[in-house]
Amino acid sequence: MPIKILKQWENSFIRESVVETERSYRSVNQSQVNEREPVYVRNKSPLVRFENVRKSFGAIEVLKDISLEVYPGQVVSLIGRSGSGKSTALRCVNGLEQIDAGRLNVCGKNLHDKGVDLRALRKEVGIVFQSYNLFPHLTVAQNVTLAPLKVLRIPAAEAENLASEVLGQVGLLDKIHEYPEQLSGGQQQRVAIARSLAMRPRLILFDEVTSALDPELTGEVLRVIEKLASGGMTMLLVTHEMAFARSVSDQIVFMHHGKIWERGAPDILADPNTPELRQFVGSGF
Ligand SMILES: Nc1ncnc2c1ncn2[C@@H]1O[C@H](COP(=O)(O)OP(=O)(O)OP(=O)(O)O)[C@@H](O)[C@H]1O
Ligand SMILES: [Mg+2]
Repeated sequence: MPIKILKQWENSFIRESVVETERSYRSVNQSQVNEREPVYVRNKSPLVRFENVRKSFGAIEVLKDISLEVYPGQVVSLIGRSGSGKSTALRCVNGLEQIDAGRLNVCGKNLHDKGVDLRALRKEVGIVFQSYNLFPHLTVAQNVTLAPLKVLRIPAAEAENLASEVLGQVGLLDKIHEYPEQLSGGQQQRVAIARSLAMRPRLILFDEVTSALDPELTGEVLRVIEKLASGGMTMLLVTHEMAFARSVSDQIVFMHHGKIWERGAPDILADPNTPELRQFVGSGF
């Protein structure tokens, strides 16, 4: 697709997201989950909807009756102790794990159906991991345009423009012709984010993208994510950076023993309802 059309599509998508993030509130009474915050009432469908999802590895049930929505333009952060099921939930969203029971709809596709087209799904859902896995023999520009060239089949003549645009978004335009080994860890992670953006995803998943970085490099990556959030990108992220989660999220979801234990607006971190979240927040995890 020519860049101009992609751009128009992106702009209209961002406009839609802004309209959709106009929030009206109503109180909600959810039985098992500790949810004292209002829910978003929107006209459009969520991009992600978990309905009573269950997932086990062998005899261990890792996701226990998870129900969760992410609406266009929304930023939702999953927090919780190690082993609580955060990464598993995230990986289900782009089909890296298959659910055992319940329903999971992502970008209009029913992932609980057999034969769902995962290739099509992954064009729409980006994922960024802790390890950035850039190809060392390719330049930064080649790393970010590889998938658009191969998967989206953009014309080669568009690749340079696309690389400039997405690297500009992550503040690395000056590194466009360098190789990954010439970059810091934080810069490499920003290239990985640019690589994801180059596919024009409707949704990006981030799984602890700063946890392998030295503290002084963490901030630059978090700032990029914050900028994407304020540009209207829909995001589901797993993070241990509580101050960041508090500032960037529309909703915080605290997972505990495979369940959504508590969720709500970011101020649940300052004033938890459950002893488990209180302990988690107070423990420095
Ligand atoms: N592929 C797998 N095979 C078997 N068990 C798994 C697999 N993936 C995850 N698990 C188990 O599922 C549970 C939840 O793991 P998950 O990675 O989702 O936790 P997490 O909340 O992301 O933890 P962390 O904060 O350490 O990343 C853990 O007990 C883990 O050992
Ligand atoms: Mg994890």
